[in-house]
Amino acid sequence: MSLQPSVSPQVASDQVPTSNPKVLAFVNEAKALFKPDDVHWCDGSKEEFQAMLKLLVDCGTAIWLDPEKRPNSILVRSDPVDVARVEDQTYICSEKKEDAGPTNNWFDPAEMKVTLTKLYDGAMAGRTMYVLPYSMGPIGSPIAGNGVMVTDSPYAVANMHIMTRVGAKVWEALGQSDGFVRGMHTVGYPLPTPTSVDVPWPCNATKYISHFPETREIWSYGSGYGGNALLGKKCHALRIASVQARDEGWMAEHMLILKLTSPEGEAKFIAAAFPSACGKTNLAMLVPTIPGWKAETIGDDICWMKFGEDGRLYAINPETGFFGVAPGTSDESNANAMKTLSDNCIYSNVALTDDGDVWWEEMTDEPPAHAIDWRRRSWRPGAGRTAAHPNARFTAPAEQCPVIAPEWEDPKGVPIDAILFGGRRASVVPLVTEALDWSHGTFLGSIMASEKTAAAAGKIGDLRRDPMAMLPFCGYNMGDYFAHWLKMGEKGGAKMPKIFYVNWFRKSPEGKFMWPGYAENSRVLKWIFERCNGTAEAVDTPIGKLPAEGSLDVNGLDVAPETMKALNAVDAEGWKAELPMIREHFATFGDDLPNALKEQLAALERRLS
Ligand code: GTP
Ligand code: SPV
Ligand code: MN
Repeated sequence: MSLQPSVSPQVASDQVPTSNPKVLAFVNEAKALFKPDDVHWCDGSKEEFQAMLKLLVDCGTAIWLDPEKRPNSILVRSDPVDVARVEDQTYICSEKKEDAGPTNNWFDPAEMKVTLTKLYDGAMAGRTMYVLPYSMGPIGSPIAGNGVMVTDSPYAVANMHIMTRVGAKVWEALGQSDGFVRGMHTVGYPLPTPTSVDVPWPCNATKYISHFPETREIWSYGSGYGGNALLGKKCHALRIASVQARDEGWMAEHMLILKLTSPEGEAKFIAAAFPSACGKTNLAMLVPTIPGWKAETIGDDICWMKFGEDGRLYAINPETGFFGVAPGTSDESNANAMKTLSDNCIYSNVALTDDGDVWWEEMTDEPPAHAIDWRRRSWRPGAGRTAAHPNARFTAPAEQCPVIAPEWEDPKGVPIDAILFGGRRASVVPLVTEALDWSHGTFLGSIMASEKTAAAAGKIGDLRRDPMAMLPFCGYNMGDYFAHWLKMGEKGGAKMPKIFYVNWFRKSPEGKFMWPGYAENSRVLKWIFERCNGTAEAVDTPIGKLPAEGSLDVNGLDVAPETMKALNAVDAEGWKAELPMIREHFATFGDDLPNALKEQLAALERRLS
């Protein structure tokens, strides 16, 4: 008997739904190691999702929100030490250390397995082990990929239901094939005896988020939080997939995908890589402020791209939901996200209002007079602390997004016209820069830097290099990753997307954002669209092509002309001061840094002098 309340009998399937010998061996090994009381094969059904929500409530992990305000939605408050990705405890366990490269924590795979096998031994005692077959991407799409995950976290199961395609169709697609990523996850909080007491958010102070790129395995221990526990997301769709992509000639990127349609009805697809909590969800759902333009969402976090038969890059969103940053999300900043949160959502570490609704900073102009904060304490405005954790998240089904694009589940993907890079840069980097070509664009991506956010544990605000927004997510040597980008460019030639570098986060000397951002970013998207068609003017500068005077649509925009000028100017002194930092950044890759990028740096230096 499990000590946890069990899921309702009609969904607890004792029958094993697959005969795939590789799956059966994997599950049997996991079972022998974790020693759970029960094994539950997930079918991905609506009933199963409901049973998980109920189980979370019965266990005391979650509470139901007011069904009138937030139908079928729950609030979960985590342990205060388990609120974000743990980059220090995230490992790439490749056979050779140099394959993990200078930006990843490396650990010998055999040694890591010895360490984790000890921790895994009996780790699910008193709990149920859920077996989740999932697909990243539309099932049957040539760009999609499968995974099988075992976990003892009903929170992870419920989230995976929203975020991925789970169920029998995956077993069908898999057949007898070995082509799946093996993921093992435990919160590391066994209930070994009948008197063991569970806690609302079981986790462990010891955490290991380990990846074995060669064998396509993920071993995660000790955390229940999003990126550490929803193995389909960062672990599979970025860290393992980036390695698969390198080996097989495609791309797995930390990018949103959006469809932009002009007043003439012409559509383009844009992918954008911004670091965690730097505006992907916002841009993916934006409502343009310029008349006649329409934006629709394909994805908000991850993008897999493969060459189509016509030689262009086609992209899918491997996910089916949004695991979005709650604080800052409002009807003003992202009305479409707010509408997506109508029902069937999981809220993590937001505040609870006295009338059973959720709240977070900036959700409304006026904060509630009283709430229960994410740490379950009474909270009032002026309490000197935030009501929601800065990395509080919502998990919402993508199909509920009012502007989800009709193509979002198209198995062949959408052809990408432009790729954007961007980060939080208070200075130096202008509003928008067009790369001179693919190599120069790769260079711009490789030198991307951003101020740190709350999405990962650590000090907020420090500037760090985050190439292509993949620093925490590249599953191999980043020098080789740059080489892969260059190789893709050579292969795709003139059919590759145009590359742009954007920065919504410039600040004035007084510390205020100079650019209004959010919906107004549509003005920059319009310029990008028109650059793709060759209809907007650009000027050549030492750092790339910038909007020519009058080419950026500022009609009706409330920004002073001097500010616009500053946003679109080349800060030559700032860039010169940046050069030694870029050199230092590049030096960390040693001989693995492609020559083409060294040449790009030298060329930038020449153009600036
Ligand atoms: P992950 O889910 O962590 O990968 O993040 P994300 O890139 O999807 O971030 P998201 O869109 O949720 O944005 C996070 C933060 O950036 C929020 O606090 C937003 O308010 C803020 N933000 C988004 N767009 C803009 C913008 O154009 N200007 C400014 N100033 N802030 C923005
Ligand atoms: C990010 O941190 O970039 C996220 C959230 O998208 S998580 O899934 O936790 O990684
Ligand atoms: Mn992300």
